[in-house]
Amino acid sequence: MIQTERIVIASAGNDFVNFTEREQEGLRRAGEILKAGGLVAFPTETVYGLGGDALNPDSSRKIYAAKGRPSDNPLIVHIADWGDLSRIVSRIPKAAERLAEAFWPGPLTMILQKSDAVPMETTGGLDTVAVRMPSHPVALAVIREGGGFVAAPSANTSGKPSPTLAAHVAEDMDGRIDMIIDGGALGIGLESTIVDLTVSPPRILRPGYITREMLEQVLGDVEADATILQSQAECGQAPKAPGMKYRHYAPAGELTVVCGEPEAVVEYINRRADEDRKGGHLVGVIGTEEMLDRYRADVIKSVGSRTEEDVIAARLYAILREFDAEGATKIYSEAFSVEGLGQAIMNRLLKAAGHRVIDLQVQQEVGENDSNRK
Ligand code: TXA
Ligand code: MG
Repeated sequence: MIQTERIVIASAGNDFVNFTEREQEGLRRAGEILKAGGLVAFPTETVYGLGGDALNPDSSRKIYAAKGRPSDNPLIVHIADWGDLSRIVSRIPKAAERLAEAFWPGPLTMILQKSDAVPMETTGGLDTVAVRMPSHPVALAVIREGGGFVAAPSANTSGKPSPTLAAHVAEDMDGRIDMIIDGGALGIGLESTIVDLTVSPPRILRPGYITREMLEQVLGDVEADATILQSQAECGQAPKAPGMKYRHYAPAGELTVVCGEPEAVVEYINRRADEDRKGGHLVGVIGTEEMLDRYRADVIKSVGSRTEEDVIAARLYAILREFDAEGATKIYSEAFSVEGLGQAIMNRLLKAAGHRVIDLQVQQEVGENDSNRK
């Protein structure tokens, strides 16, 4: 156990630039910790990051240990100034310049060929590196104070939902890292879009706030990784069996996503909830504002209005964690549209569910539990 210092940057919105004296002093201390090889959790515009010096292999090792993350899962290197990019990549392609002009600072991560300055510990043994310039002023200040290159995965224990509040970070990281900077609730709530620029055409590896359409406006043709498209296939089409049994961003209870017409979804979830409650389960529901008063369950949570995807994105991870706190053992969620930001929302929701999906339109279930459910 180490002592985790907690500082608050109360003025932290996404649009302020003037820190108080006290805040500046805290940010300088964060920088010293990073330069000495320690770990600092800090707010970004997407989710809280768990930062360490990206050019120090020991710092990266500590990040993996604190998260309980396998060390072959590479970290994102965060920078604050465009001029610093050339130090960590071997070549800057034209596409990177164009994307940076359009979306940096902001919620976009680019995969590029790494330079020798970046240790293999940071890239999980790959010769490519993920780079992002966040827009959150606290993140930018922490990166600059810390020497310019901060490796930061999401500040959660591996497998748990990413933190969108400092309280989530403390839940997972208290006693494991040197400092937590509390910047309040975060704006976007889902991790950055990742685009691989080492392949042609560029390929989206993780959907996020910067959508495929937005990237295509800048780059022309952009592909999406097959595992992302799988999310689309799981609602409204013949279901595909999941290729891998993985669970990410996951609550402790068993989460099932239900696709179909709203009325049918409510009816189905209520019937399952009744059964589960008879069986002694504590049942949670994730619903949209529009359908909320129709559900019967122990804990019913609104993720926002169906028409406000940015609100759904910002609330999703906090809701998944709240179910843990309330002890839900079975959770059902409505499915959301996969257009625009909806694609990122459904991608995370389906991963959280381990791809356990009921599609009422095709009347068939896919997921880990195929074989053992009647
Ligand atoms: O919004 C975000 O990106 C947040 C905040 C803190 O900036 N960070 C974040 O990091 O989500 P993390 O470590 O939770 O997710 C990084 C993802 C992982 O899925 C990792 O496999 C992938 O990026 N990644 C990193 N380097 C890569 C590389 N060289 N090639 C392919 N994927 C890479
Ligand atoms: Mg993560």
